[in-house]
Amino acid sequence: MSYKKSVLIKKQDIAIKGIIDVAPDKSISHRALIFAALAYGKTKISNLLEGEDVLKTAQALRQMGVDISKNSDGSWSVIGVGYCGLNESNDVVDMGNSGTAARLLSGMVSSYDFVTFFTGDGSLRKRPMKRIFEPLSLIGASITSRQNNFMPFAIKGSKIPLAIDYKMNVASAQVKSAILLASLNIRGQTNIFEPEKCRDHTEIMMKYLGLKIEVSDFDNGRKISFNGMQEFDAKDFEICGDISSAAFLIVACLVVKDSKIVIRNIGVNPLRDGIIKTLQEMGGNILLKNQRLIGGELVADIEVEYSELKSVNVSAKRAPSMIDEYPILSIAAAHAKGVTRMNGLAELKVKESNRLFMIAENLSKCGVEVNMGDDYLEVKGGIKSNNEPINISTSMDHRIAMSFFVMGITRDCGVLIDDFSMVDTSFPNFLKIFSDLGYKIDDNINSNFLDKNQSS
Ligand code: S3P
Repeated sequence: MSYKKSVLIKKQDIAIKGIIDVAPDKSISHRALIFAALAYGKTKISNLLEGEDVLKTAQALRQMGVDISKNSDGSWSVIGVGYCGLNESNDVVDMGNSGTAARLLSGMVSSYDFVTFFTGDGSLRKRPMKRIFEPLSLIGASITSRQNNFMPFAIKGSKIPLAIDYKMNVASAQVKSAILLASLNIRGQTNIFEPEKCRDHTEIMMKYLGLKIEVSDFDNGRKISFNGMQEFDAKDFEICGDISSAAFLIVACLVVKDSKIVIRNIGVNPLRDGIIKTLQEMGGNILLKNQRLIGGELVADIEVEYSELKSVNVSAKRAPSMIDEYPILSIAAAHAKGVTRMNGLAELKVKESNRLFMIAENLSKCGVEVNMGDDYLEVKGGIKSNNEPINISTSMDHRIAMSFFVMGITRDCGVLIDDFSMVDTSFPNFLKIFSDLGYKIDDNINSNFLDKNQSS
């Protein structure tokens, strides 16, 4: 049971300066735990994200018999059971707010001859799961779900799971990864065709672990082939910083006068860096320095300086490489000269909240002119002054909360964010970074419990 936490944040004329470390990468943290669990031997994971989402993945793996513990130096140890060594959980697996945990672990269990019951919080129970049920059923899993699409659901994996050829109909790294995780325990070659290239952390991690996985270009996307039942030994992981978390600091730095920062050690995988490219096109002074590879992932230090931003037309093709960054890009757009148009946003409607709607509604409350379509958003830069704090509703969405916090630091009377507690899912030290910079933040633990079973 958690408490709701409202946050009041106002303009304070404090330049964002210094060297900053943001939260470790959430996508890579989930995957590191899962692959460590399925390897043979002991893995040490350094800089694991200890956000609620990733802790849900750890808890689920523990329920299936994997020994996972935190070491005294802050790293984590996982004793792998091998790709076919998991046990049936004797309780429901609760994925909390995490779509990534839910979809990846569903894939993982679908090639096991046992039953797993999955549920999640009020937000996750509204998110579509049919996209994974389709390929997992072809593999041979039997799935019973609410309205054939939603949590709670039960997956009974097949005794003899089948290697499939699967053409994905959504550009989703979660769907691709669910199939790849299932394929680890399937005899024969699984082939996945993705319609557009989307984040490839799973493929990179498999290569890093020495697994033979083939990736080639196919139309606008890729073909990924993997021959299952390859044993692999444990190999330590070091997790880089999360570009999706860095994005909030980058935009804060771009919109607050005299700011200049270096955000250290951030994953800049070319299939995740759409936000950097887009902000650079808007006139943002952003440089990637000291580029290097860590565990096969491209990592850099990101140098950012306050900039006068101008509007941009963001093509739908860029959506997969910055799918989680539209809320914060919209805040940058509200500070830019001209009308920014973002295309190809249909997937935003099925994230932790209906993000397309939540961005438009909260920007309008802030006096920003917006025009929202079924899969696009136009934001006209320029914000009218307000006489009292603007009430922001977050609908249990961490990225809406953090984006509108950044809006708050440029508004005289600030914003009052209804609930900041969900930020712990991905970026637990977000508020500390701003208070260390000197920002006075008024946070209030409400006497109301946050009923995670409900979502507005
Ligand atoms: C993720 C993939 C994306 C992203 C999510 C994390 C992942 O979702 O929005 O936050 O780790 O694979 P989709 O696969 O639904 O695009």
